[in-house]
Amino acid sequence: MAAALLHCCVLPLSLALLLITIGCVSGEGNEVNNERQSELRTDKTGRELNQAADSSPVQYALGENHAMGGRELALFPEVGPITTGWSERLLGSLYSILHFWNFPLDIIRSPSQEQDEATGHGASTPEDHNILFVLGDSPFDAGNNLYLNESNYPVASYPYGYTYFSNATGRVCDGRILPDFIAEYANLPLIPPSLQPGGDFYYGANFASSGAAVLDSDGSSGLHVLNLKGQVIQFKELVAKWNETLGADTTRQVLAKAVYLFSFGGNDYHNYYEKFYDEDSSPTPLEQEQFVKYIVGNTTDALIEMYELGARKIAFQNVGPMGCLPECKTQFPKFNGSCIPDLLSMPTLSNKELNKTLTDLAERLEGFKFSIFDYFIALMDRIENPSEYGFVYGSTECYSDGNLCEYPSAYVFFDEGHTTQCANEQLAKLFWEGDLSVTSPYNMKQLFEESKG
Ligand SMILES: *[C@@H]1O[C@H](CO)[C@@H](O)[C@H](O)[C@H]1NC(C)=O
Ligand SMILES: *[C@@H]1O[C@H](CO)[C@@H](O)[C@H](O)[C@H]1NC(C)=O
Ligand SMILES: *[C@@H]1O[C@H](CO)[C@@H](O)[C@H](O)[C@H]1NC(C)=O
Ligand SMILES: *[C@@H]1O[C@H](CO)[C@@H](O)[C@H](O)[C@H]1NC(C)=O
Ligand SMILES: *[C@@H]1O[C@H](CO)[C@@H](O)[C@H](O)[C@H]1NC(C)=O
Ligand SMILES: *[C@@H]1O[C@H](CO)[C@@H](O)[C@H](O)[C@H]1NC(C)=O
Repeated sequence: MAAALLHCCVLPLSLALLLITIGCVSGEGNEVNNERQSELRTDKTGRELNQAADSSPVQYALGENHAMGGRELALFPEVGPITTGWSERLLGSLYSILHFWNFPLDIIRSPSQEQDEATGHGASTPEDHNILFVLGDSPFDAGNNLYLNESNYPVASYPYGYTYFSNATGRVCDGRILPDFIAEYANLPLIPPSLQPGGDFYYGANFASSGAAVLDSDGSSGLHVLNLKGQVIQFKELVAKWNETLGADTTRQVLAKAVYLFSFGGNDYHNYYEKFYDEDSSPTPLEQEQFVKYIVGNTTDALIEMYELGARKIAFQNVGPMGCLPECKTQFPKFNGSCIPDLLSMPTLSNKELNKTLTDLAERLEGFKFSIFDYFIALMDRIENPSEYGFVYGSTECYSDGNLCEYPSAYVFFDEGHTTQCANEQLAKLFWEGDLSVTSPYNMKQLFEESKG
C-alpha cells in the first residue's frame, strides 16, 4: 500500500481523496503534505479538501468524558479483572523469540532480500527483526491505562481512535501516535501495551501510561499511573523472564539491539507549575533550575538502570512547548490566552540539560548511543505556522468539550493537550529521518541501523 500512496500527489484528486480517507497518508508524507498544503491554501475555506479525509461515519453523541493532558480524564468503564501474570503473557512471544535466536546468524540472503534491505523495507529474516520498547506519558500511551486497577487514572475513550482504529484503543489521539509510525518505519507491527493480557512482545513492548511523570512525588499529579520508575520496573520484569527462558547472553544481545523510545517530563513541569499558579505566584529562575535538575537527574538514573540491564540505543522526544498547549492556556487564564512563559522556560532548560547529560553518558558508557528529537521546536513551529504544514488550526483543538470537529487533519491538536494523527505522522518522520537541525546526533533510522551491526 505504501508504494501506491507514494504517488498520491500525481493521482487524480478524487483518488487522492480516497487514499487520504485511509488515514493520514503514509509513505513520502512530505510530498503529500506539501500537496495537501497547497491545496488547502487555494481552498477558500481550507476545509473542502479534507472533507473526505475526515468525514467519518461518526455522528453519534459523544461521551461527556474527554482526556486532557493527564487531568480530568475520562474514567474507563470497568474493565474485567486483569490477572494474567507476566509469565502467561510472555508464553506466546517466547516461542517465537526462541525460534528467532536459533536461526543461523550467517544466513545467506537472497538478492531480493538485500534489495529490500537497501530500501529499508520489505521482508526481513528473523535475525533482522527490529525491537522497539516505548516508555513515556500520554503522547506515547498505546493503551496501558486501560489495564490499570485503580480508579483514578486517565483513559481516552471513544471518539479517541476513530480515524484509524474503529474504536478507542487507549491512545490519546484521533488515530495513530508517534510510536505507531516509528514501528511502521522500522518494519514492525504496532507495539502492544505492556499490560495487555496475552500481549505479544516479540517485537517489543510499550510501557507508556497517560499522566506519567518522572517523579512519583511532587512532579506527579497523584494519579495511579505507571510513572517512569514503574515503567522501568515493568521492563525489568520482562528482562528477568527473558533471562530465565533465553539465558542471560541471548537476552543481553536482544536488549542491546533494541531501540528504546522515551517521552517524559511534560507532566512534571505542568504539575510543578500548577502549584505556584494556584498560589498566585511563579517559580523563580533558581527554583526552575533546581527542579529541572531533579527531573533530568532522575531521568538519567533511570537510563543508567536501563543501560545496566542491557539497553544501549536511546531515542528521546524532548519536552514540548507546554506553555503553548491549548490546555495550559485554558487552565492558566491569567495570561489572557497567550503562552505561559514558565511552561516554556522550564522545558527549554530541561531540553538543554537532557542533551548535555545524554552527551556525557555517551562518552562515559560504552556502546551507549542516543537520538534526541527536538519536539519543542517541531511542535512550536506547527502551532505558530500551521499552514506551512498543511494545517488550518495551530492552537485550537479538534475535540473540545465533547464536540468533535469535522476534519481532524486540519488541526495540529486533537484535544487540548494532544496532537492529531496527521501531526504525529509529520513528527514521526522528523524523528525517524530528520536532519541534525531537528534530530541529533543520530536519527532513529540510524539508531536501528546501528542495532543491526
Ligand atoms: C491488577 O491487579 C491484579 C490482581 O490483584 C494484579 O495481578 C495486577 O498486577 C494488577 N495490575 C497492575 C497494573 O497493577
Ligand atoms: C466503543 O467501545 C465501547 C466499549 O466496548 C462501546 O461501548 C462503544 O459502543 C464502542 N463505540 C463505537 C462507536 O463502536
Ligand atoms: C539476567 O541474568 C544476568 C546473568 O545471570 C544477571 O546478571 C542479571 O541481573 C539478570 N537480569 C535480571 C533483570 O534478572
Ligand atoms: C530526584 O528527585 C528528587 C526529588 O523528588 C531529588 O531529591 C533527587 O535529588 C533527584 N535525583 C537526582 C539524581 O537528581
Ligand atoms: C490580562 O488582561 C488583564 C485585563 O485586561 C490585564 O490586566 C493583565 O495585565 C493581562 N495579563 C497579561 C499577562 O497580559
Ligand atoms: C544538542 O547539543 C548539540 C551540541 O550543542 C547541538 O548541536 C544539537 O543541536 C542539540 N540537539 C538538540 C536536539 O537539542
